[in-house]
Amino acid sequence: MTDVFYRAPALRYPTIARGEGVFLWDTDGRQYLDGASGALVANLGHGRREIAQAMAEQAERIAFAHTMRFTSAAQEELAQRIAALLPFGLRHTYPVSGGSEAIETAIKLARQYFLEVGEPQRFRVLARWASYHGNSLGALSASGHIMRRRPYAPLLSPAFAHFSPPDPGCPGVAEDGECDCTRALRAAVERAGPASVAAILIEPVGGSANSGLVPHAGYMEAVRRIATECGALLIADEVMTGFGRTGRVLGMEHFGVAPDLVTAAKGLSGGYAPLGAVIANDRVYEAVRAGSGRFAHGFTYGGHPVACAAGAKALEILARERLVVRAAEMGALLRAGLEELGARQESVVEVRGLGLMQALVLPTDARPGARAARLSDFAFDEGLIVYAGSGGPDGVLGDHVLVAPPLIVAPAEIDALLERLERSLTRLD
Ligand SMILES: Cc1ncc(COP(=O)(O)O)c(C=O)c1O
Repeated sequence: MTDVFYRAPALRYPTIARGEGVFLWDTDGRQYLDGASGALVANLGHGRREIAQAMAEQAERIAFAHTMRFTSAAQEELAQRIAALLPFGLRHTYPVSGGSEAIETAIKLARQYFLEVGEPQRFRVLARWASYHGNSLGALSASGHIMRRRPYAPLLSPAFAHFSPPDPGCPGVAEDGECDCTRALRAAVERAGPASVAAILIEPVGGSANSGLVPHAGYMEAVRRIATECGALLIADEVMTGFGRTGRVLGMEHFGVAPDLVTAAKGLSGGYAPLGAVIANDRVYEAVRAGSGRFAHGFTYGGHPVACAAGAKALEILARERLVVRAAEMGALLRAGLEELGARQESVVEVRGLGLMQALVLPTDARPGARAARLSDFAFDEGLIVYAGSGGPDGVLGDHVLVAPPLIVAPAEIDALLERLERSLTRLD
């Protein structure tokens, strides 16, 4: 008997006992290789004493003081470290407690930006089909993941419109920098009314939906151009891709495209505390600072000192251990291993992704996500955690699993991961 309202009440969940590096153990002593870093969260690996200590010291000194009245050394250090790491002049950090909160915050900040600059007619947000931006109602309204939207459709906001994701079969942009995929976005802007669009919201690499999808060359530049031409802000959702996962600090660096706002969470604290953030460029920050002087928003736990202390220490480790470069190196090894495995296994249609964010595309199942879920269950039996995703180009059909171990993963651990994955795929066949 339990008093917990589990995600799936009928399921029995093993009880987690501890973690060390890329491994987890449950209370029955079973070992799991965390091949998904949870859900692309535990980027620094498990069992980092240094982070636990930083959090404990912070909690002892002061665990909570409301940000309406106080800042904290931990919040200041977190923001400084983010500003030092991030490219594109992104340096104004608004801390929150997770990815969905970061998305809600970015959307509201985009709206407020246009109130500040005297364009109150701008409120619409354009996002892609086959995307995932979070489960709170604003973030779900933005998300183009049909299966997650369907039960809550009557509650979702009509202020959000969607456009098709880039087609993996697209021959690429023409000399004018356009292709059918970018024209789909232009058409969505026209339908919405260009003067009403506040933001275009985009994941640099497909995460829970359209897993591992990397836009073709020229696509992201066109998205930036279209946002600029219609006067909207560009928001990059880097909740999964941010802070080293793809082998760069930000996923957008692969395309050399500067967003106005970035959302982050997951790897920002490596899962040691619930932490997210919106990071703004000068244009947005200065509009609010010099305008009304107050962002009309806030969560009680935003800027929580213990969460900020975890994030600051996580970023210190990320830099000290050069984990972004390591993600690129280990990502190349993982990719090569997955491709070899894919050539042997019928169930692998494609391997795609960047750095340590790699996805296996599986044959589409008539029940969206069912094959990916089955593979993920077989892997769990084999002592391997992978992250099942669904929702291809139409936002519904398409099965994938993300393979994304912590950035500290060693070559021998990649081999162990691949062996367990191969056994799971063989069972799937
Ligand atoms: C790209 C992206 N944005 C937002 C979210 C929502 O984050 P959270 O689950 O922390 O609310 C997720 C979660 O998986 C995500 O992958």
